[in-house]
This record gives sequence, C-alpha cells and structure tokens, in this order.
Amino acid sequence: MQLFVDSANLDEIKKVNDLGILGGVTTNPTLIVKQLSSTISSNNPNQKDLLKQILKISKVDILAEPISPKFDDIIKEGLELVKLSSNIVVKIPMTQDGICAVKELKLYGKRTKKIIKTAITLIFSVEQAIISALAGVDYICPFVGRLDDIGQNGLDLIKDIMTVYKNYNFKTKVIVASVRNKKHIFESSKYGADAVTVPYKIIEEMFNHDLTTKGIEKFLSDWAKVEKKGYNNIKQF
Ligand code: G3P
Repeated sequence: MQLFVDSANLDEIKKVNDLGILGGVTTNPTLIVKQLSSTISSNNPNQKDLLKQILKISKVDILAEPISPKFDDIIKEGLELVKLSSNIVVKIPMTQDGICAVKELKLYGKRTKKIIKTAITLIFSVEQAIISALAGVDYICPFVGRLDDIGQNGLDLIKDIMTVYKNYNFKTKVIVASVRNKKHIFESSKYGADAVTVPYKIIEEMFNHDLTTKGIEKFLSDWAKVEKKGYNNIKQF
C-alpha cells in the first residue's frame, strides 16, 4: 500500500518525504488555491510554478488537474502539465469528456513515445470505477469522506470496487481519497486499496498511540533513576 499526501503545501510534502514514506502527492484546484492564496512570496503565483516546486521535492507521482471540464481544454491543459515531468499524472473529473480525454492522452503518448499517466477523480460509484478501468486509466480516486457526508458508508464503495477490480483483474490502481480519519486508512488497507491519499494532519495522527507515549515516558523515567542512583541501588527491577 502506498501513502500519498493530499496537499499542495510544500512543507507538508517535504516532511512526509523526509520520513521516507511518501508514495505520491494528490492536488486539486481547491488545494492549489488554498496553497497559492497563502503564498505571499510570489506576485503572480500559478499552478505550474507550484507543481515545479513540488516536483523538486521527490520523484513520486504528482496528480494534477486541468481546470477546464471541456474535452479540448482538458487535453490542452493536460499536455501542458505533463511537459513539466513524466511524474505528473493528469487527474480528470469523472465525466464523458474526461473519459474521452484519457483515451486521447494515451493515444498522444503512444504517438509521441511518451508516458502519459492519467487518473479519474470524483468517483462515487462502482459503475464509475468500472468505466474508468475499461478506459485504461492508471488511477482512480474514490472519495470516501464525501459519501459519509451524505449518509452513505464510503468504505463500502472501496470494498466493492476492490472486489470488482479483482474479479476482472483490472490494472487501474485505487487511491482512496477524501480521507477524514484513521479508520478510513486501515479499512482501505484491509480491502486491498493500492493507496490512500491523506491530509498531513491525519498522517501525523497515524504516528500516535497512548501506549507508545506512555512506553517512551517509562523508558525515560527508568533511565533517569539509574542515572540518579546507579544500577545497584534500584530495587524495583
Ligand atoms: O483527495 C480529495 C480531497 O482533497 C477531498 O477531500 O475532505 O474535501 O472531501 P474532502
């Protein structure tokens, strides 16, 4: 299983990369706007400049979205994005235009002997996941949290998609998105999802367990006793 960071924040991406556990990065227009609007160092910030900085951090796949929902513009913007690096994956919302764009980008890649990777995002049903796999997309991003928001169980979708993908040996990889808590992560891993994309705050939470904290405190306090009294004078061991 891979751990992607769901963020366009350079510090957050760097921190996870420094831990040696960064499997990839997912961005979207919302995350890009959030990051760029808080960046005061540049007068005219844009998505491509930000992606260039993310690409410098690590050689992992970076999912980036064309903004337009129209076929011609998805292709135009997608080709601009992949010019930045072969690590850029063109992430496209689940529409008929989007699915056509996946096919076109793949054909363009073959013609020009370049690897163009694609992802379909905003997946909320097994049917959408099947269409994406049939179109030969590299990744899909099913959104668990937003299904929970409307009273459904987002994790059921992951279970169903993984079952269907296994039945037909589909090669499309599943990146679980809209992750809001640790349960979303461990249940996704039980169902065999290829990756989860997780906001940095939740990645931090993944490190924590009360017993780990207490265990460290005990190691330190026991060691402090020895330092104070010497090994021979500690009765309770
Ligand atoms: O990866 C998709 C994610 O950014 C959306 O998350 O919490 O807005 O549903 P959320």
